[in-house]
Amino acid sequence: MTDTNPTSDPASGPSLENLLHETRSFPPSEEFAAQANAKAGLYERASAAGEEFWAEQARELVTWQTPFTETLDWSGAPVARWFGDGTLNAAYNAVDRHVEAGHGDRVAIHFEGEPGDTRTVTYADLQQEVSRAANALTTLGVRTGDRVVIYLPMLVESVVAMLACARIGAPHSVVFGGFSADALRSRIADAEATLVVTADGGYRRGAPSALKPAVDEALAPKEGAPETSVQKVLVVRRTEQEVDWVEGRDVWWHEALAAADPVHEPVAVEAEHPLFILYTSGTTGKPKGILHTTGGYLTQTAYTHKYVFDLKPETDVYWCTADVGWVTGHSYVVYGPLVNGATQVLYEGTPDTPHRGRWWELIQKYKVSILYTAPTAIRTCMKWGDDIPGEFDLSSLRVLGSVGEPINPEAWMWYRRVIGGDRAPVVDTWWQTETGAIMISPLPGVTAAKPGSAQVPLPGIAATVVDDEAKPVPDGGGGYLVLSEPWPSMLRGIWGDLERYKDTYWSRFEGLYFAGDGAKKDDDGDIWLLGRVDDVMNVSGHRLSTTEIESALVSNPIVAEAAVVGANDETTGQAVVAFVILRGEHANRASTPEGAAEVQKELRDHVGKEIGPIAKPKKILVVPELPKTRSGKIMRRLLRDVAEDRTVGDATTLADSSVMDLITAGLAVPSAASED
Ligand code: WTA
Repeated sequence: MTDTNPTSDPASGPSLENLLHETRSFPPSEEFAAQANAKAGLYERASAAGEEFWAEQARELVTWQTPFTETLDWSGAPVARWFGDGTLNAAYNAVDRHVEAGHGDRVAIHFEGEPGDTRTVTYADLQQEVSRAANALTTLGVRTGDRVVIYLPMLVESVVAMLACARIGAPHSVVFGGFSADALRSRIADAEATLVVTADGGYRRGAPSALKPAVDEALAPKEGAPETSVQKVLVVRRTEQEVDWVEGRDVWWHEALAAADPVHEPVAVEAEHPLFILYTSGTTGKPKGILHTTGGYLTQTAYTHKYVFDLKPETDVYWCTADVGWVTGHSYVVYGPLVNGATQVLYEGTPDTPHRGRWWELIQKYKVSILYTAPTAIRTCMKWGDDIPGEFDLSSLRVLGSVGEPINPEAWMWYRRVIGGDRAPVVDTWWQTETGAIMISPLPGVTAAKPGSAQVPLPGIAATVVDDEAKPVPDGGGGYLVLSEPWPSMLRGIWGDLERYKDTYWSRFEGLYFAGDGAKKDDDGDIWLLGRVDDVMNVSGHRLSTTEIESALVSNPIVAEAAVVGANDETTGQAVVAFVILRGEHANRASTPEGAAEVQKELRDHVGKEIGPIAKPKKILVVPELPKTRSGKIMRRLLRDVAEDRTVGDATTLADSSVMDLITAGLAVPSAASED
């Protein structure tokens, strides 16, 4: 089932009227504009050249083994073929060609472990290590086209493992380390992976945390689950924790690499060869394996990284704080920056370990000039106070990026003023796992930036806002964000489910890609993103599906029914709030505060086990009924009102309109909210 009906009104964003009359504007300084990669002419060139614009980018930014002669083939819409007759290798583009061009000594990665251990990896080092890893994978039986699941913390090895897969043309599927064994199992099964790369653990908040036990559990036989296709598990040693070992299956990464040849011939693949599958939450319970291919993806990640962040590979130090388990880590830690030959910082830990100034300390230490992070992190640091960043020298920063959710103007202003010294331009970048690369963003050096708005589609991108009838809204109007022309890094489908791909993205509006986001255009025609209009939540910039968490809850025997909503949250953007009806005798358990707290803990842990700690509801409210329409659809809008402590809105379409009174009356019983 794909429910693309808006469950939240796109016009009801936070103080929208104020947002849309934003008068503050930050035009680029003359100095910045003079040296910027992007000039206003880029927009003109893109609109004059059409798809040839992308061919120009593909030739300029990417090295092809066989040059392409076809640019776009859209005859199989909505599955695009970009640069279809060209061949190339992604790892060669990200690593070898920089060494061949004489930049082998350039630092690719400044790694900083959470405990403070460091490692400097040059492009020449990276070439050797990726080659060894590619040879090791081959020795372990991985062939071009086989899928490899990567379940690792933020380590140099994570980047190496991804590039080693790309080098032999084996699509990788990175699973974020915060997902549980069950979530890992279903992704391994869906991708039919033959090898998993993991680690004994990683450092998190000052202590080693384990990772391999989740892999062992995910691969153990389970009743009702298909037999695993995984033959080998490569294990990175990071924390030296004790690990269980399956003889014949488990192999130490360091041993396999030491035994492997440091020279490896990258496999030239067709432009449309799958580069990776990345699972993301959708409107139904089952995560979607978003499929990206090679040529178009590399072209657009390199293009956007160069122009949106104004990258100067010789002088900049770039840092994207995203984990490689998310698309931002794929496109803006691995492929975009490395294809462009950037020097970057890779940090294993959290911003508050061992102290709340860790990020700013790293920026000072490595003289980071470009920072790319998420609004939730910005708001958290803002809460900690200006004094903390004030203790560090942040004068190296010259471009600041934001991604993952709408950035409220207050956070935007703080980011610019306190972190950027009122000097560094802020770029608010809108995109999705599905789009592969940035789609809407100001261009530093060209666009006069507006706090809180992603503003304009990039040169070459056609994004607009339409109403229910697919008609573009006039300036000042609101509706749904759509993309009206194919773009090189677009997803090529959902792994193994073409129908779901068509249904999810292409059935809402004829011929238009439906992003699932509400949007408005202000009087200047600038785009403001207003959050999801489907059953997808955005918690700390992480995508979570209401349905997936509901399914996890009802899989617990004490739960009869569950409804989940994303409630506005000052720090995390949205927070998961669950309403549950307990089964029979369990219902009484929640009638005392202690009982309710116990039930909450049990259910939160259960969701943590089913999906992962990131999906644990912040609040679980035990209720006697759920508000449903006559056709049985849960009215989440009303539950959101309750979750956000608002007067409950219009309940007249409910089958039983007294239900909301029952729910709100029942909630007068204290039920402690808990947080990890
Ligand atoms: C949201 C992350 C507003 C949006 C790259 C989108 C944003 C979803 C922004 C994709 C932004 C991302 N302003 N909303 N700058 N960036 N989003 O797949 O709802 O994890 O649909 O990709 O995040 O999340 P995903």
